[in-house]
Amino acid sequence: MESDELLALARAVARRAHCPYSHFHVGAVVVAGGKRYTGVNIEISSYGLTLCAERAALAAAISAGAGPISAVAVACIDAASDAPLDARTPCGACRQWLADLAPNAVIYIDGAKQSFTAADLLPYAFSL
Ligand code: THU
Repeated sequence: MESDELLALARAVARRAHCPYSHFHVGAVVVAGGKRYTGVNIEISSYGLTLCAERAALAAAISAGAGPISAVAVACIDAASDAPLDARTPCGACRQWLADLAPNAVIYIDGAKQSFTAADLLPYAFSL
């Protein structure tokens, strides 16, 4: 199944996260034009400039000139197995990126029973 395979890849890449401050590893996979692009969260000493895994993966896809984004998978491998959904879903900034760049994608969240769209995660998203 697409979701199982993408979430397994997201969990694997999450191990490469650079998160010396939070120790919270996140991995993301973007499927665009039939290819897969990965991203991890990258923290720096100025915490507010941290890059989330979702935005890293979206930037990789866009930078590569990828086609339309059809799927996104996200895994927070340090979330407790009984952690609520809001400990695994994309942050507000990433939701806006998803709304702008992946409006037609199916979004898989590791540990969630259902899949999402950007509109599910960010109703009434800003757009220009
Ligand atoms: N993080 C992500 O990578 N994606 C999200 O959508 C939420 C949070 C990262 C940022 C930071 O490195 C760590 O998780 C803890 O907030």
